[in-house]
Amino acid sequence: MAGDEPPTQEVAEMSVSEGVSAASTGSGEVVQWSRYSRRVLITTIVNRPDGGLGLVGQKISVGGWVKTGREQGKGTFAFLELNDGSCPANLQVLVDASVASLGQLVPTGTCVLVEGELKKAPDGTKQTVELKVEKVLEVGTVDPAKYPIPKTKLTLEFLRDHVHLRPRTNTISAIARIRNALAYATHTFFQKNGFLYVHTPIITTSDCEGAGEMFQVTTIFSEAEKIERELKQNPPPSEEDIEAAKLLIKEKGEKVAHLKAMKSSKEEIASGVAELTKAKENLAKLEERAKLKAGIPQKDGKVDYSYDFFARQAFLTVSGQLQVETFACAVSSVYTFGPTFRAEHSHTSRHLAEFWMVEPEIAFADLEDDMNCAEDYVQFLCQWLLDNCLDDMQFMVKNYDKGAIDRLKLVASTPFERVSYTEAIELLKNVTEKKFENKVEWGVDLASEHERYLTEVIFKKPVIVYNYPKTIKAFYMRLNDDSKTVAAMDVLVPKVGELIGGSQREERLDVIERRIREMDLPVEPYEWYLDLRRYGTVKHCGFGLGFERMILFATGIDNIRDVIPFPRYPGRADL
Ligand code: 4AD
Ligand code: MG
Repeated sequence: MAGDEPPTQEVAEMSVSEGVSAASTGSGEVVQWSRYSRRVLITTIVNRPDGGLGLVGQKISVGGWVKTGREQGKGTFAFLELNDGSCPANLQVLVDASVASLGQLVPTGTCVLVEGELKKAPDGTKQTVELKVEKVLEVGTVDPAKYPIPKTKLTLEFLRDHVHLRPRTNTISAIARIRNALAYATHTFFQKNGFLYVHTPIITTSDCEGAGEMFQVTTIFSEAEKIERELKQNPPPSEEDIEAAKLLIKEKGEKVAHLKAMKSSKEEIASGVAELTKAKENLAKLEERAKLKAGIPQKDGKVDYSYDFFARQAFLTVSGQLQVETFACAVSSVYTFGPTFRAEHSHTSRHLAEFWMVEPEIAFADLEDDMNCAEDYVQFLCQWLLDNCLDDMQFMVKNYDKGAIDRLKLVASTPFERVSYTEAIELLKNVTEKKFENKVEWGVDLASEHERYLTEVIFKKPVIVYNYPKTIKAFYMRLNDDSKTVAAMDVLVPKVGELIGGSQREERLDVIERRIREMDLPVEPYEWYLDLRRYGTVKHCGFGLGFERMILFATGIDNIRDVIPFPRYPGRADL
């Protein structure tokens, strides 16, 4: 079975990367010291093709957190299973009671940095090598009675209440490495194919999807609270104060006039003018403070955003697409990869309020090019995990999803099915063996149950559905000749449903202006976007891949909240 295959040569080679320096030994073998920390990473020992045998006899230091510790031989020595997060495997560490007080080393979660000699493990044991400790260099102790994540099997739900400690678990650390590998693979794929990485803004004033699901960015509330506090401590000037200040200016003005008329000395006149200036400044200050009002600034019964930080309403981005198009329409092939935010009140296992999206945008390209790019990219990601993360994938197979590796293999090697929306609706209408909760009818948006049925049951592989009704898609998608559908495409994959949403963009100015009006969107915020069509318009397309959905698909983990380090969803934003 695929899950039982040993880690590949590539796994070992990947781990022994540029971040380490090599020290040759008597046997000619090489131990890889971390370049920036005083230890050898466990992966560079246990993931060698020989399991570390070639390093036997070497003096090394390793640092990590104890998974399991047990005192043996009536307390004369202890075994520690040490994990440093560099790979799923632990290194067995043997400490003699003469070297350190064993009681403080064995609790799960204890951090140790130890120095010793690598030995061949006794025959018949699980491990190939073990470390015989000569010196305990550092210890970070744990009170086992209080440690929130003990050795017992903990549910992923439970771990969500301890997001700051859950990276210590096998599951969350494996997901972190898979996530990291997918990010590296993403940059590798696009860089290799000549795409330029563009950083699009997090704070934006345009609603890309036009769905009104944006989080607002404002300082209006904190400013109002600040002013309220300030006014309480230091009440605003009264009308009398202002009148008195005006009177003082009058007096000082008259004094200056008098001094000039009397032909007084330069010094006397200058001093009078200085007093007048000071009185004027004082009035200006009082008038400014008199304008301060407690509460939210309003105009015509609405919040007056001209007082807000950006002097207009601003939001967290739902997608970097519109902004990245400005670069696609200048430097050809680009991509953005960053966090996106949606204030949807979805409590599903597929939605987050903050998630990461990979969004390529390609000039001189149409919907077919878009589908080809999406397919190649997803296949590249799958193959990358097979080549570089096999040990973590084996962990997933063993603990979460028996089919995870087979699924990656299938997707990496099989062309995706492509069906039009109209064909997909026909296929779903003909389904008799299952009753869908949501109705199937031309014009409705496909629900998750429909998407999963298409990819999991009908085709049993990824499916690209294209040419959706214009009424259920965003304004920027290119209108097809039938005037009913747009050149949109969604990539649907088993386990997840929609992984990618993309389209050819509407490059015709008159058509896109009409679409914005038809969809009742305000034109003004999109004027800059329309300029891309006014000046040097180009056929172009792009898509967005939900990064956490890709991790769900790869790992077989059920809930999206467990594949992002710090999940944000309605009611929760820990740390
Ligand atoms: O289909 P969506 O809404 O497409 C866009 O945002 C386009 N502007 C992308 C583009 O063409 N450049 O979102 C793209 C993908 C979805 O297919 C899904 O995988 C993911 O983003 N996604 C979410 N992932 C987690 N939580 C959510 N709330 C998500 N909403 C969308
Ligand atoms: Mg979509």
